[in-house]
Amino acid sequence: EARPPLTGKHALVTAGPTHEPIDPVRYIANRSSGKQGYAIAAALAALGARVTLVSGPVALATPPGVTRIDVETAREMAAAVETALPADIAVMVAAVADWRVEAAGQKIKKGAAGTPALTLVENPDILATLAASPRRPTLLIGFAAETEHVADHAQAKLARKGCDWIVANDVSGDVMGGDTNSVRIVTRDGIEEWPAAAKADVAARLARRIADALA
Ligand code: C5P
Repeated sequence: EARPPLTGKHALVTAGPTHEPIDPVRYIANRSSGKQGYAIAAALAALGARVTLVSGPVALATPPGVTRIDVETAREMAAAVETALPADIAVMVAAVADWRVEAAGQKIKKGAAGTPALTLVENPDILATLAASPRRPTLLIGFAAETEHVADHAQAKLARKGCDWIVANDVSGDVMGGDTNSVRIVTRDGIEEWPAAAKADVAARLARRIADALA
């Protein structure tokens, strides 16, 4: 029997949200179940890739054959991605918080001081940093969750981030936390519209598409 198509390839996947502490007991985060990213990690492993999954806090089991590195904040995710290089393939699915908070060292108490104000600081863009890196993976894929003008926004994001493909998903419906997804694959050559499908099926199709692109 033939070897699986991604044998010998290292694939790096980010998934889940990041949590950015406000104080030792509170945080801000993006909404993300991690399901699509975990499914992609599993699908790449099923095609024979060695997979490193850098994961924010989620309630999911590690897929078989996948090496998982748990992180909490965007800066921890950026460092873990850097440590995992080099990679042939990177699929950045994580819903990274755009800002972190200038966090308090102790729990902020209600009361006397009035309502606290949060000072936000921009987080590093992990995808854009990887695109500009001398160790840029051969195939670098970003995600874009959009609620409108999905294709236009994804085309713009492809150029801005410097990645090879954007997987654009329309999150205007009930994609968040659900088990199905409706995506478009945006490349420099055009846009492929894929029918709505289970996240596992979207992942399997994406993994095959990746294997074809590297063949
Ligand atoms: O700019 P936006 O957050 O919409 O871009 C989404 C894409 O960029 C996703 O692939 C996401 O994983 C990645 N990203 C990142 N680091 C950030 C923000 C987004 O890697 N700080």
